[in-house]
Amino acid sequence: MATTKILIIGGTGFLGKFMVEASAKAGHSTFALVRESSLSDPIKSSIIQKFNALGVNVVLGDIHDHKSLVRAIKQVDVVICVVNHLQINDQYKLIYAIKEAGNVKRFFPSEFGHDVDRTHALDEGKNLFDTKAQIRRTIEAQGIPHTYVVANSFIGHYLPTWSDLGPITGLIDSTVILGDGKAKAVLNTEKDIATYTIRSVDDPRTLNKILYIKPPANIISYNDLVSLWEKKHSKNLKRVYVPEVQVLKYIEESSFPFNMAMSICHAAYVKGDHTNYEIEPSFGVEASELYPDIKYTTLEEFFNHNDSCTPFYLNRFILVNGVQNFY
Ligand SMILES: NC(=O)c1ccc[n+]([C@@H]2O[C@H](COP(=O)([O-])OP(=O)(O)OC[C@H]3O[C@@H](n4cnc5c(N)ncnc54)[C@H](OP(=O)(O)O)[C@@H]3O)[C@@H](O)[C@H]2O)c1
Repeated sequence: MATTKILIIGGTGFLGKFMVEASAKAGHSTFALVRESSLSDPIKSSIIQKFNALGVNVVLGDIHDHKSLVRAIKQVDVVICVVNHLQINDQYKLIYAIKEAGNVKRFFPSEFGHDVDRTHALDEGKNLFDTKAQIRRTIEAQGIPHTYVVANSFIGHYLPTWSDLGPITGLIDSTVILGDGKAKAVLNTEKDIATYTIRSVDDPRTLNKILYIKPPANIISYNDLVSLWEKKHSKNLKRVYVPEVQVLKYIEESSFPFNMAMSICHAAYVKGDHTNYEIEPSFGVEASELYPDIKYTTLEEFFNHNDSCTPFYLNRFILVNGVQNFY
């Protein structure tokens, strides 16, 4: 198999770890740009040790250090950025460095969520998506070959474990559902998101396209997601429906980051942002159709193997903000 040289920026992060591992395990020559400060951080340094064990080239650098970026970029063909939502604008520095280096065959900016050109998000969610959309426009204006990955919801983020839920665990016999729970959303494991992304790096069919990760078995309404969990756990939850008008009120009245999280959830789980448009071949391709040999984790399989994961992400947000009158 021909290998590609891939640089991952943000490799020690939530999604980044999966991206680095998928790249190394696919046999690509993998580089991870790591900040010097991470080397002395106990959690990050154990992640870096795993990178070393996988044969990853750990290169020191910082998105704010232009020379370090250009130096790292010059060694590779593909750059995948997985910095977080607060750092989206820092990618202008990366775009500048990619232009200067002049050798990049494909750039994947930090997206991995909704299709930011086709969204109904409001307020802070809209601000985030607009920021990501502006990065798209700059990449296109600069003529940088690219792929945008629309990963929809991360399972690890939206199906928290009991231990993630911490102090509210004792309060949970109900699950919060925004709107009527009928809109279809898409949830994928971070491992599958990384596997599909890495598979696409040198595929001409994904060049200058959006790669949508929308495998059929993972398209589900929130109502059906809860039913699936109930079936696996032989337990019924009280379903607490929050009418859209109340969701909008939360978004309007709450502060960051709650308003951002709520507006993203509103767009996905009330407005159906993940599924309310057709993928046109002129702008996008769907990952499970493109790579049918990749065996993705279905939600059903996920629940079979991850007993402690729950549909309680929204409960945490409502409770953290002191809105307990639903219970
Ligand atoms: N669809 C969904 O459900 C969902 C959920 C979550 C996130 N996302 C998206 O996924 C993407 C990645 O987010 P994430 O949550 O995985 O991010 P994250 O965990 O916060 O990781 C951020 C990474 O960026 C690195 N970084 C920070 N500052 C840097 C700098 N100055 N120079 C170089 N690297 C730097 C961090 O390195 P250190 O280790 O040194 O700090 C870390 O590795 C974002 O676009 C986000 O919006 C989507």
